[in-house]
Amino acid sequence: MPLSDFYSPIAQAMEQNPLRPNWAMQRPGLISLAYGFPDAASFPYQELAAAAARLMADRTADALQYGPVSGPEPLRRFLADWVNTTEGLDVGPDNIMITSGASQGIALAARLLTPPGGTVIVESPTFIGALWFLRGLGIDVAGVATDGQGIVPADLRRVVLGLRRRGADVSLVYTMPTVHNPGGFDAPVERRRELAELAHDLGLLFLEDDAYGDLIYDGERPPALYTLAGRDRVIKLGTLSKLVAGGMRLGWAVADPEDISRMCALKADSATSPFAAWVTAAYLATGALRERLPDLRRMYRARRDVMLEELAPLREVGCRWVVPSGGFFVWLRLPQGFDSEDIRARAEAQGVTYLAGHHCFADGADRRHLRLAFSYLPDDQIREGTRRLTAVLRAELAAAAAG
Ligand SMILES: Cc1ncc(COP(=O)(O)O)c(C=O)c1O
Repeated sequence: MPLSDFYSPIAQAMEQNPLRPNWAMQRPGLISLAYGFPDAASFPYQELAAAAARLMADRTADALQYGPVSGPEPLRRFLADWVNTTEGLDVGPDNIMITSGASQGIALAARLLTPPGGTVIVESPTFIGALWFLRGLGIDVAGVATDGQGIVPADLRRVVLGLRRRGADVSLVYTMPTVHNPGGFDAPVERRRELAELAHDLGLLFLEDDAYGDLIYDGERPPALYTLAGRDRVIKLGTLSKLVAGGMRLGWAVADPEDISRMCALKADSATSPFAAWVTAAYLATGALRERLPDLRRMYRARRDVMLEELAPLREVGCRWVVPSGGFFVWLRLPQGFDSEDIRARAEAQGVTYLAGHHCFADGADRRHLRLAFSYLPDDQIREGTRRLTAVLRAELAAAAAG
């Protein structure tokens, strides 16, 4: 009998991760716009090597020993100062825990606040990984409408009341009010206030994922939901994946100290790599992030603009998108009746691929969107990949118009 006959019900229910097959698709000549990876050329190679060398020369045992589950104090202190300065929060190191990426933060917060078999509300669309992590915990996900300014409050009320009427245990809302992935929009402060009031009304809690808040290219960073809705309603997540290096697997959660220590109790890996955390803390202590951020923003904004320039002709044939305020993605909508998953095979035959948007919806029903990452490839590849895609989509739309 194969091992698969013994898979748990959760394992059996997990369809294959749609991003994974694309690893194999890094075949020569295929340009992948599927990955939301940071730019590899700008990783701080030398600086991280120097930080590691300093720690090892000083025989810093803490970097090689098992460490506190919440993460090393110097990194938590740095991050508390960082969010206080960049977002006007008012937290200390005890409000911070280091997680293995924001990915683990999503799972920990969900486990803290949702019982097995319970339901978490996610935005339509949402971060594909969140659907993945939540389902992997045996948690149900239910979508709520967004309108380009964040969650639609009336729909949130409708969805929550409907679920509760059917007996669902639902209180947690996973949301990206700042630089939404994949939507690319920011919820304005009025919308955030409205949602905070509604949360109060309905007894809802927010998991605020702010993976891209430091990478806003246009406009101001709106105040955090964590500030507006209050610490007793929000756990806030951040990540160093996009700011330092994804391979470090370092993220953080901001919450009250009691909630942090309960999430530490749920963290089943004895702590995120102390080595990665200490090296990164030593690197950050040099002030490097503040220096590096303007360059990162400039680089990613330029890539976004290359992609938007190449996409422009698609407006004439009915495709739509908003200019993302920051982050890594353009979220493109096809005219009614077109299916991004169907088109993908033909796009791949022309040397370009992307993430079909239905993967970003809890119910998978919306087939009209494409998520296009501009973050990972150099400008010339982004231009060429987007050109290929534009040609494919124009041909698809023209063929449909002809008959
Ligand atoms: C919105 C959002 N949240 C969380 C993550 C997870 O990032 P990590 O686990 O690398 O910190 C990502 C990564 O793409 C993301 O886009």
